[in-house]
Amino acid sequence: MTQVPTSAPATLSASGLTASPLAPTTAASAPAIAGATADSPIQKLFAAATVEPTEKTLRDITNPNSPLVLVNKQRPLVPANYSPSDLVAPKILSGSGEPVLLRAEAATAAERMFAAAAAQGLTITVKSSYRSYETQVSVYNGYVAGKGEAAADSTSARPGFSEHQSGLALDIGDADAGTACDFNSCFEDAPAAQWVATHGSEFGFLVRYQPGDESITGYLAEPWHLRYVGAGVALDMKARGISSYEKYLGVPDAPGYK
Ligand code: DAL
Ligand code: ZN
Repeated sequence: MTQVPTSAPATLSASGLTASPLAPTTAASAPAIAGATADSPIQKLFAAATVEPTEKTLRDITNPNSPLVLVNKQRPLVPANYSPSDLVAPKILSGSGEPVLLRAEAATAAERMFAAAAAQGLTITVKSSYRSYETQVSVYNGYVAGKGEAAADSTSARPGFSEHQSGLALDIGDADAGTACDFNSCFEDAPAAQWVATHGSEFGFLVRYQPGDESITGYLAEPWHLRYVGAGVALDMKARGISSYEKYLGVPDAPGYK
């Protein structure tokens, strides 16, 4: 939890992006973020500013313990049965009856985000959060049984390929809007979806699967699926107008499995 900035969300961008006098030397010697393309936007951010995570081993998009980890149809979690060691239950409202579990840093950020939304009259709920490999097996198999493999693959990750298994993702609902649009494209019109699209980055969350990015992410738009990457990265993506994490990292599109 200590890695989440303690300042108020409105000041996160200013406090999280401090100019670094060492930036030119660091950028010339080695990319700051392992696994991302050398001239990608994320390298520019970390070369020019002090951004969390500061620990070198976590500045690696292949490290499942990093808040920067890239998980998509080309990049499964390694190991496939990865399970985070710091899962906690944030004090946020479950909309499914299931326990809410997130990695500690993401949990703290989610608590702050939900509190900020509540202060503006919104009641965001959590429909799904951490899912183990085994849970993802049953979620994915349920989609395959219901709509076939091709359709399932456009909405559900195969086991080992879900951000939910990283402990950094959560699906939201809107208690005031009812449940009819839960996990449905019409959720984009719910006040909670519009609020997180505008403010999620202030707390470190991306709306990970956006309309227009289907051929990059391999998934239909999911205005309910939030992914924690940290406020420095999330705010920089927003400022640059980059909607997919793949493009921000400069890595290949991931429309399908290998
Ligand atoms: N619905 C997203 C893609 C997942 O299953 O992780
Ligand atoms: Zn999700």
